[in-house]
Amino acid sequence: MADADPTPAEPTRKIRVALLFGGRSGEHAISAATAAGVMKAIDREKYDVLPVGITREGQWVLAGGDASRYELSADHLPEVTSETGTAVAGLGEIGHVDVVFPLLHGPFGEDGTIQGLLELADVRYVGCGVLASAVGMDKHYMKLVFAGHGLPVGPYVVVQPREWEQRQAEVVKRVSDQLAFPVFVKPARAGSSLGVTRVDDVSGLAEAIEAARFHDPKVLVEQGIAGREIECAVLGGRGGAAPRASVPGEIVVDHDAADFYDFEAKYLSASQARTDAPADLPDEVAERIRDLAVRAFEAIGGEGLSRVDVFVTPHGEVVLNEINTMPGFTPISMYPKMWEATGLSYAELIDELIQLALERPTGLR
Ligand SMILES: Nc1ncnc2c1ncn2[C@@H]1O[C@H](COP(=O)(O)OP(=O)(O)O)[C@@H](O)[C@H]1O
Ligand SMILES: [Mg+2]
Repeated sequence: MADADPTPAEPTRKIRVALLFGGRSGEHAISAATAAGVMKAIDREKYDVLPVGITREGQWVLAGGDASRYELSADHLPEVTSETGTAVAGLGEIGHVDVVFPLLHGPFGEDGTIQGLLELADVRYVGCGVLASAVGMDKHYMKLVFAGHGLPVGPYVVVQPREWEQRQAEVVKRVSDQLAFPVFVKPARAGSSLGVTRVDDVSGLAEAIEAARFHDPKVLVEQGIAGREIECAVLGGRGGAAPRASVPGEIVVDHDAADFYDFEAKYLSASQARTDAPADLPDEVAERIRDLAVRAFEAIGGEGLSRVDVFVTPHGEVVLNEINTMPGFTPISMYPKMWEATGLSYAELIDELIQLALERPTGLR
């Protein structure tokens, strides 16, 4: 466990970093792949690395240092199991660490829960705090917070669990009255496009809502936005400086092969989508996106890192899609790739994130 010493690491010893990965969400395998990338790239001269896997059931295991077993490929989704290493009872049993790097995506990791545990234990950790993580995870509250800050979001309808269970016809009518097809139906709290369906007419709506409900009882139906998918990486500022925005990148989906940027296009099929960083955009548009990305980060009270995803319409209008407080972080993921294009390598980025976590005080801030 970390101590409350204001100087977290003495120069004479390495900084001890616990990497938390796997976890209880549908993005378990992606998180493990991220851990593989970080384990390989982190500066071992400076950091002592403790890999801690979390199984799908929530069991913590000391995972050992073999990064290659967590690599992701089209025919191998890596997984943390109880056989992966020695089981521990949780944070209290992993021993002293200076900082925790939660490489977890989705609910029970990216949503403020693990951050709350670390806050309670007074342990320093990388990335967003409890509130920012929770808001960033929940696409409903995310939109409310963005809109409350005057930031542009598209039209949407929230489908609460009780409403769907008791008044399906009303939900279908509300969607048809308020939104134009195609719409995107998605779980409020998921990621990696899990449970997301594009629906072209009302006949497909109920099935798509049921598919989203498999991941989360709360569902969002969003108006489809025709535009380019652009992303921007935000990194907290050092020493009280303002957050930094990377050059924007673009997701280019091959629409003959995939409907949209779904799970397969994201991770499994290299031919369905391509990522470009920097995106080919007029300077003025790129600047507006970077400015909006920082404002979105600040709107949720972001710390450390986030990736802000937007749509750019054919008229050059920029609309927020979402903020990801623990974006994909493998060496080929968009977040590191955009920093690479901005002049910060993957290893430097890992170092920067850990240093940001070490300089941040614990407790209310
Ligand atoms: N409103 C929308 N209009 C157009 N495409 C969308 C919309 N919402 C989602 N998509 C498509 O679905 C993908 C996944 O949706 P997203 O909201 O980003 O969920 P996730 O959190 O799972 O990444 C997006 O990358 C995009 O390709
Ligand atoms: Mg997304």
